[in-house]
Amino acid sequence: MYILGNWKNSLSSEDSKKLAEALHTHINGRYHDINIVLFPDDTSIETVSLLFDSASMVKVGAQDGPLGSNTTLTGSISLPNFGKFCDYVLLGHSERRMLLGETDEMIAQKAALAIDVGVIPVICVNNGDGTKIDPYFDLKAQLESILDHIDSKSEFVIAYEPIDAIGTGIPADPEEVKNIAGIIHETSFISRNVKGSPYIPLLYGGSVNDKNIKSFLSLEGIDGVLVGNASLTADSFLRIIKKVSDPKYLK
Ligand code: PGA
Repeated sequence: MYILGNWKNSLSSEDSKKLAEALHTHINGRYHDINIVLFPDDTSIETVSLLFDSASMVKVGAQDGPLGSNTTLTGSISLPNFGKFCDYVLLGHSERRMLLGETDEMIAQKAALAIDVGVIPVICVNNGDGTKIDPYFDLKAQLESILDHIDSKSEFVIAYEPIDAIGTGIPADPEEVKNIAGIIHETSFISRNVKGSPYIPLLYGGSVNDKNIKSFLSLEGIDGVLVGNASLTADSFLRIIKKVSDPKYLK
């Protein structure tokens, strides 16, 4: 099971360090069945990653990745730093798709490069702008682009985050998430039905907190959550971790 904390650009480097230290104190040596991954901003990746060394169960990820190995790109994290300090990378978050116009091709390109340097992509997909006749058209297009570009033997994670649920305090309807999880797994299965193809874990994200987490983790086809606001304090993030460490929710 995966519990991911997306800190976005919400914390100063001092607060990121304090939060990481508090989580380190409470988590290290416990919760062996949960993949906990923290996504600090680029200025804090090194500090947070050095705190949780390679033996730690808590992993660290970047909030975005390099686009090409030989591309000089102002504003991007360098490939050596990326490979050195990150176990995971978030790609295709809808804030980046909408504000920066990131395309499915760019996201797939970054995912392939991350995989090449041993970083596991967590690729965010969403429900689109709701203007198409087929309500799942945008979601399927995003998925197909990823699946077409990534080698079928590669390991990666998908996070489904409906746009209206991000940062609003109003999560999606679990029944709808269950339905979408079915579509995502079916689409992935059809395109990656190759021997040796690893299972693609699927996460839900959007206004997850300790009160509603069980309604998502208990859904068939959901393997974890991507948490934004509720990952910004040790108290609220630890409340989530404690709740899901109940054996009933460990898948
Ligand atoms: P939220 O953010 O939990 O604050 O809705 C989730 C995300 O954007 O990944």
